[in-house]
Amino acid sequence: MIDKATVQKITDAADIVEVVSDYVHLIKRGRNYVGLCPFHNEKTPSFSVNSVRNFCYCFSCKKGGSPVNFIMEKEGLSYHDALLHLAAKYNIKVEEKELSEDERRQLNEREALLVANEWAASQMEKYLHDTEEGRTVGLQYFYQRGVTDEAIKKFRLGYNPDSGHALADAAKLAGMDRKSLVEVGVLGDSQKMAGSYYDRFRGRVIFPVLNPSGKVVALGGRDLKGGMAKYINSPESAIYKKSNELYGIYQAKNEIAKQDNCYLVEGYMDVIGMWQSGMENVVASSGTALTDGQIAMIHRFTNNITLIYDGDAAGIKASLRGIDMLLAHKMNVKVLLLPDGHDPDSFAREHTPEDFRKYVGEHATDIIRFKAQVLLNDIGTDPQKRVEAINSVVQSLAHIPDKVKRNVYVQECSRLLGVSEEVIEGAVEKSRIDVIEQQRRRRQTDEIDRLDSNELNPQPDVSKNLRPSNSGNITDKYPYYLLERTVIFQCVRYGMLEFCEVEYEDGSTDMINVAEYIAEELQSDDIWFSFPTFAKTFNRILDLKEDFIKEFEAFDSEIQIQRKEMLNKGYDEIASKVMNITEIKRAERILEDNIEEEIARKYYDFARYFIEHKLSSHHDDDVRRTVMDAINDEQPLSNIYMRNNPVSERKMEEDRMRVLVPRGVLEWKNEMLNQMIRAKMQQLNNIRGHSGPEEEQKILLETQALMAKRGQLGKEMGDRTIGKKIK
Ligand code: UTP
Ligand code: MN
Repeated sequence: MIDKATVQKITDAADIVEVVSDYVHLIKRGRNYVGLCPFHNEKTPSFSVNSVRNFCYCFSCKKGGSPVNFIMEKEGLSYHDALLHLAAKYNIKVEEKELSEDERRQLNEREALLVANEWAASQMEKYLHDTEEGRTVGLQYFYQRGVTDEAIKKFRLGYNPDSGHALADAAKLAGMDRKSLVEVGVLGDSQKMAGSYYDRFRGRVIFPVLNPSGKVVALGGRDLKGGMAKYINSPESAIYKKSNELYGIYQAKNEIAKQDNCYLVEGYMDVIGMWQSGMENVVASSGTALTDGQIAMIHRFTNNITLIYDGDAAGIKASLRGIDMLLAHKMNVKVLLLPDGHDPDSFAREHTPEDFRKYVGEHATDIIRFKAQVLLNDIGTDPQKRVEAINSVVQSLAHIPDKVKRNVYVQECSRLLGVSEEVIEGAVEKSRIDVIEQQRRRRQTDEIDRLDSNELNPQPDVSKNLRPSNSGNITDKYPYYLLERTVIFQCVRYGMLEFCEVEYEDGSTDMINVAEYIAEELQSDDIWFSFPTFAKTFNRILDLKEDFIKEFEAFDSEIQIQRKEMLNKGYDEIASKVMNITEIKRAERILEDNIEEEIARKYYDFARYFIEHKLSSHHDDDVRRTVMDAINDEQPLSNIYMRNNPVSERKMEEDRMRVLVPRGVLEWKNEMLNQMIRAKMQQLNNIRGHSGPEEEQKILLETQALMAKRGQLGKEMGDRTIGKKIK
């Protein structure tokens, strides 16, 4: 792990304009830069880079973030690796931090497995090239299948000798940790004789599977003798989750981005065949249906995917599987069927690269059109089948998020299926509602699952007593989710700005910031964020105050120097002009006012952007995501205002903040009171007739107290909404 200070150094050094410029041609526009979004295909720029706030954002596909986020997305790297990437760019020496016992163990475990795999893969490469058996058996096999030396090197192909213990012996000799080699499935641990290891991939040629950053996460070994299992693969481990990896992604990622398209094939050899035919933007799902994780990985590099299958019945069926998922991911999907009995590997061997590319260029069909055609061919005269076919196409269309795109398909499918546009459109829009609901539920369940599996700081959870929790809908489990979200977003945006003066019992006063104001407001009613991600983010924000004070001191003395310089420069300029004393006095006053305003704005910006500066690259996914969501969710002030009046922009924003922050807290409290009152009423109904009048009386009084409180709150809320400031 990288220590905190180094992380800070890296995130401070990483300049968003410089980082993005490595990938995007940026043009200065006003205070920002714009360019064509590197995450999706577009003709007019919607990718905006804000150099002051050091982040980027695509208004169209909504991707972006801090330099770290950008590199994670663009290079397909983990948080840690993205930091290393930036450190290399800025020549920052990375000190790996002393880890806690637990972190060390986990990291060491993963690291040990990666080391084991890397060692095994390079050992297999050596066997292929440097041993007699490797050359006559392994290399010969590859040559016979038309694999070139260039591809062998690029894909790090290898060979495991047939003796059964070549690798195990080499591991012992090299002092490798054989437990790790067993864990990644390179060695087997003999049942008969404990502590005796054998080569699981013996007598096979080897295809290492690399993750996007080039680490060997798994191996595939192909049998050469017509044995039972054609391929054996590494088992799942701490470093390998089959459904999240794609064979060839490391070799293909740059080309996928460059070509803005990704070919998806089934097997190892298919990737190599395509690659050798000059189509390097190719990956394989290794014989299984595509998963969400794999699609997301491709999506980092392009929106366009072309599925390539054998044109036999199985291939056609396979190509139709999972297309709804691809469409839902906003991918543009094409499909290409090779002539019956061919896979890309065999097709490549029988055609020149030029012919292969020509074939691909001419035969790729849009997936929906393809689906409609395939189903139509199947129908025959069976009316029942016809209805099923139409429904199935409608279902796919409903997964397309973009309405314009959907409508184009509606027209086309109406023609193909011989059904009126209105009918199809009606059916699609109807199913669209279900699809959106399904997706929303799935996302929320995912989020809840993610949270449930996390160990989080427990906070008083008032909501728990009010409603039964049940997973599925986030507001079922966290009834105040949306209200809490509003407050945490305000807090991310304005948390370090001064909010009001508070007076303590001993008569002393203190200025508190927005975050502290929110904390006090919540604590005074004994409530807190119930949604764990928000609670965690809020705590991180409160923790920042100390850093803020420290850094503010340095900033402050710097600003004082600047102010003096600006004033002196201005006075000199005035003095150099011929003016009478009244004119000079006036000019000086204007100068001073302008400078004070500029300075005020600098102070404001320092506080305003402190939190996002500190947390938008935070290592915790939840915190980072919440901060980015808050930034992205921001409603900009009107353009006219921004352009003409940068000074008042600050004042206007500050005014808005003074209204919105208390209102957010009050609305949350108000809703909680509503819920409590409702619960009391319910309770009253339930006990009526079953208990004595004292009990009823007690609950009635409690209800009245809550109602009085709500009335009080309502009055406060009314005061705020008319814009009264607290001073
Ligand atoms: P195929 O059976 O189509 O093999 O499986 P292939 O890629 O054409 O292999 P060659 O050309 O005969 O050498 C497609 C993919 O499914 C996975 C592999 O990733 C393979 O490339 N697979 C297949 C396995 O993992 N295990 C198997 O036993 C078979
Ligand atoms: Mn094959």
